[in-house]
Amino acid sequence: MKNFKLLVVDDTPVLLEMVKDFLEEEGYAVKTAISGQEALQAIEEDKPDAVIMDIKMPGMSGLDALSEIKKKDPQATVIMMTAYGTTQTAIEAMKRGAYDYITKPFKNEEVKALIKKALEAGRLMKEKVFLRTDPDNLDGVCIIGKSSPMLDIYKTIGKVAESNATVSIRGESGTGKELVARAIFQNSLRRDKPFLAVNCAAIPESLLESELFGHARGSFTGAINKRVGKFQQCEGGTIFLDEIGDMSLSTQAKILRVLQEHTFQPVGSEETSEVDVRVITSTNKDLWRAIEAGQFREDLYYRLKVVTLYMPPLRQRKEDIPLLVDYFLQKFNREFNKSIKNIHPDAMSFLSGYDWPGNVRELENAIQTAVVMAKKEILFLEDFPVLLGKPKESVPAPVPALGEGAADNYADKFKELLAPIIKEPSIFLDSGLYKKMAGSLEKTLLETVLNLNNKNQVQSAKVMGISRNTLRALMKEHGLE
Ligand SMILES: Nc1ncnc2c1ncn2[C@@H]1O[C@H](COP(=O)(O)OP(=O)(O)OP(=O)(O)O)[C@@H](O)[C@H]1O
Ligand SMILES: [Mg+2]
Repeated sequence: MKNFKLLVVDDTPVLLEMVKDFLEEEGYAVKTAISGQEALQAIEEDKPDAVIMDIKMPGMSGLDALSEIKKKDPQATVIMMTAYGTTQTAIEAMKRGAYDYITKPFKNEEVKALIKKALEAGRLMKEKVFLRTDPDNLDGVCIIGKSSPMLDIYKTIGKVAESNATVSIRGESGTGKELVARAIFQNSLRRDKPFLAVNCAAIPESLLESELFGHARGSFTGAINKRVGKFQQCEGGTIFLDEIGDMSLSTQAKILRVLQEHTFQPVGSEETSEVDVRVITSTNKDLWRAIEAGQFREDLYYRLKVVTLYMPPLRQRKEDIPLLVDYFLQKFNREFNKSIKNIHPDAMSFLSGYDWPGNVRELENAIQTAVVMAKKEILFLEDFPVLLGKPKESVPAPVPALGEGAADNYADKFKELLAPIIKEPSIFLDSGLYKKMAGSLEKTLLETVLNLNNKNQVQSAKVMGISRNTLRALMKEHGLE
């Protein structure tokens, strides 16, 4: 595991010692500085992963030091310490790009939790994501896969990264949506600016709006102080809205406005602010269902899906499994100081045949457990007891909504249909072109399915794994009524 480096900055030596002590107990490598100037120098020399800095210091103030730090590295992760009653300055710090602030006197537990969050945010921003390159790469993570749907993904990343386009990433849990979001960011023109990920599903609906856009003082019960939202903190950068399926209609309205007009108003505030942030979203939900239920705005849906990437489930790219197994084997050997040389062919063929409902994450966890528990230098079938206990063919996942994978489920029917027009339908199908058609030519796909089912809507909806209402909404959208 990486040993994170922290820098603590305060003009009170006693406090410095105390904070250093308990952070070292947590396993961090801690340096200290007693002034803003010293902090700038220490950052230059040690390149800490996060900085915890007092606001009020003689000489260069914490705020000024923060501005200097951010000027040199807009991605620096800085937590500010502030005395009780001076939250106004703390808010100024947030506007200047501090990750968060903590009020003195604080509990050690509070600081620990905040540092953990800040380090994770910093990792997401800075850890390099490589596309199927050298798996020996030690200073980042790789997106592994040479299957044709993955090659398509790399191509799309290359095409959209440098534009400012809003990108929507869809796919089942564990398929690599977050990795792809980070790859897009790192290949974009905003790569040196902040990248903030917000897991919308993990934040209560009532708080999400304020998390994203901030709030005015006293705008709701519990809003004691004014708050700066993630969009503002992310100015000039990229925000990754993870799991956008669950969000209140008023938050959705605000996001739509940011996308259309680049402006927003904090909760309970009349003040309109401008903001320049690129938005990337992900979801594993069928948003059409949410639209039908009146829980998701249709206009926002269209605005978000301008560029859509469909992450293939692992079971649809089984040829990538051995590559992933190798990659994770090396990764966990390094991480746990093991030297497992190989995997027995029986075990590999079992892993290659398994359906992986939890996708790459499930595979990664399985290899991790096996590496940690293994007694020998080769992994055997019995090193995967959890998987062995499950039926090999897991419960089939529901057929994804149109566009996501519907084309795959219809590959054979497409072949029949295409045969009269195209000489080599299988080449056409293998080229992956039909998948793009399915994304952009929903209408053709809908017509095809309806025709194949004698226009029976109930039956058509059923085979596509969508509700009849969704089908009707889609038909209406494409003028097929
Ligand atoms: N193609 C890949 N190559 C290597 N590692 C991968 C790949 N895809 C996913 N992973 C790894 O699998 C885990 C899950 O990936 P990630 O968090 O990006 O998935 P997700 O689609 O965002 O899942 P969820 O919907 O559950 O949030 C991560 O540890 C990630 O590094
Ligand atoms: Mg995710």
